[in-house]
Amino acid sequence: MSLKSHEINLDITPITETFGAIISGVKLSNQMSQDELNQIKSYWNRYQILLFRDQDLSKEDIIGFSRELGDLEIHIRNEWLNDSHPEILQISNINVDGKPIGALADGEVGWHYDQIYLKRPALGSLLCSVKIPPEGGCTYFADMTTAYERLPLELKATIDGRLGIQSYENFNNLYSTKTDENQTSLTQKITQPLVRTHPVTGRRALYLCPGMTVGITGIPDDESDAILQQLFDWCLQDDFVYKHNWRLGDALLWDNACTMHRREPFDSVHERLMFRTTILPQAERAVPF
Ligand code: OGA
Ligand code: MN
Repeated sequence: MSLKSHEINLDITPITETFGAIISGVKLSNQMSQDELNQIKSYWNRYQILLFRDQDLSKEDIIGFSRELGDLEIHIRNEWLNDSHPEILQISNINVDGKPIGALADGEVGWHYDQIYLKRPALGSLLCSVKIPPEGGCTYFADMTTAYERLPLELKATIDGRLGIQSYENFNNLYSTKTDENQTSLTQKITQPLVRTHPVTGRRALYLCPGMTVGITGIPDDESDAILQQLFDWCLQDDFVYKHNWRLGDALLWDNACTMHRREPFDSVHERLMFRTTILPQAERAVPF
């Protein structure tokens, strides 16, 4: 290690006993040092979600920092991309000229893994608060690594080597709006392993979510529904869940290989706007994990 990397020591405070950490003393930007970036990457792998408070980020900062973590995706929901910076997907209930400028409005958004319905799901996302309601709209995260590690052996055996059936349509019917013809053709049902191994840490995590996982291959629906329900109930125990109450200036980075999330509803009289970048996996981090 160079002398410089010893000098930079990001201040880190774990959030729960098993996952999540707040990193202080750093301003995310498009001009960060390699040492800062390396530390952040290693904490990201270790803690699964990282929270940076009191950020004052331009769109260039958000994109510049995110790009250091991997190539960025232009999300298929092109109706919600930022006009000038399409690397930013807007999550919002704001309407302009009668049209929503962002995804997910103000209702409940059930538990999901972003892009579990794609063959090469995103590595992670950075979500930055731009405008938040006075209450509600909290985002919850589940530590799917610990949930797997502590899973009863019998359930581990039941799902060992099994594939989950993933449906974006299911999620949209419940929590969002329908995709257009092109988006639909890109998001047909697929299968993914129910347990994935983290490409960097080697830790295994449950890869399933109530919002999108609709079946298990080779198991009849009524039986797989019951198994999935058992698994969902297991993951959603308080021990594995962190509730994030947003402040303005928060930026939250999650590892999409081992955490799922949900957003609670909020009063529609208030506006909420979040800027999100989506980080693509490098080839070696793509499925089959
Ligand atoms: C997302 C998401 C929830 C939120 O950006 O993928 O699910 O709280 N956001 O905005
Ligand atoms: Mn999401």
